[in-house]
Amino acid sequence: MEIPGIGHLPVNAFVLRAEQPVLVDTGMPGSRDEFGALLAEALDLDDLRWIYLTHPDRDHTGSLMRLLDAAPQARLVTTFLGLGILSIEHQIPPDRVHLLNPGQSLDLGDRTITAFRPPLFDSPATTGFVDDRTGTCFTSDCFGAPMASAELATADDAADVPADDLAAAQQLWATVDSPWVHGVDRAAYARTVRECPALDAPLILGTHVPPARDRSAPFLDLIASVPSLPPFVGPDQAALEALLSGFAPEPRLPQDDREHAHS
Ligand SMILES: [Fe+2]
Repeated sequence: MEIPGIGHLPVNAFVLRAEQPVLVDTGMPGSRDEFGALLAEALDLDDLRWIYLTHPDRDHTGSLMRLLDAAPQARLVTTFLGLGILSIEHQIPPDRVHLLNPGQSLDLGDRTITAFRPPLFDSPATTGFVDDRTGTCFTSDCFGAPMASAELATADDAADVPADDLAAAQQLWATVDSPWVHGVDRAAYARTVRECPALDAPLILGTHVPPARDRSAPFLDLIASVPSLPPFVGPDQAALEALLSGFAPEPRLPQDDREHAHS
């Protein structure tokens, strides 16, 4: 997803091939057909058991309702608040929902996943989870990083992005997406970072960052530093008007027409 002035933001969804398969997030509204085709390559929708929603923002819920129709066994994993937010727009049958709070676990047959609240978030319904079989940590917007190009945004490994560029992108995104972070009690915030289950994860799969292997320590160090960064201030109306005036086409009447118009 290209965000003008910010960069190319990865928007990831994941299939966890557990005994009871899980889809983590459902893509963007504008790419439903493509998302559905890719998902159908990854697994049989009849086998899909869980749709884990990290939070109900629109860049995560694109194919949710379509998939609840197409995957009859699948239940939506979210929080009470997540369901409430979704219910403003959608009717979701309660028997298709499984409410999971931070700290609670879900048995997938061959493994258990345990939900947690990431240190940074832009929705009160946000959770990530840790897979106890592999230690993999799935997160939401936390650790997100808008990239300089679409190629970098779709990289298979965060190691493909120069480390300094990735860190700068994560710092930018953290201040854009979680502006409240500048006003927190620093000690309490540092504790949430220290106690984040991502700390020991060999693999972090975030919805807005390329897959990151053995990067949990630098990722969390970076997240810990965010309260002292300068707050993000978006372009204002004057900036928008300057931008628009730059794009305004010059009058291009032929000379004759212009004279005619003046006469
Ligand atoms: Fe997001």
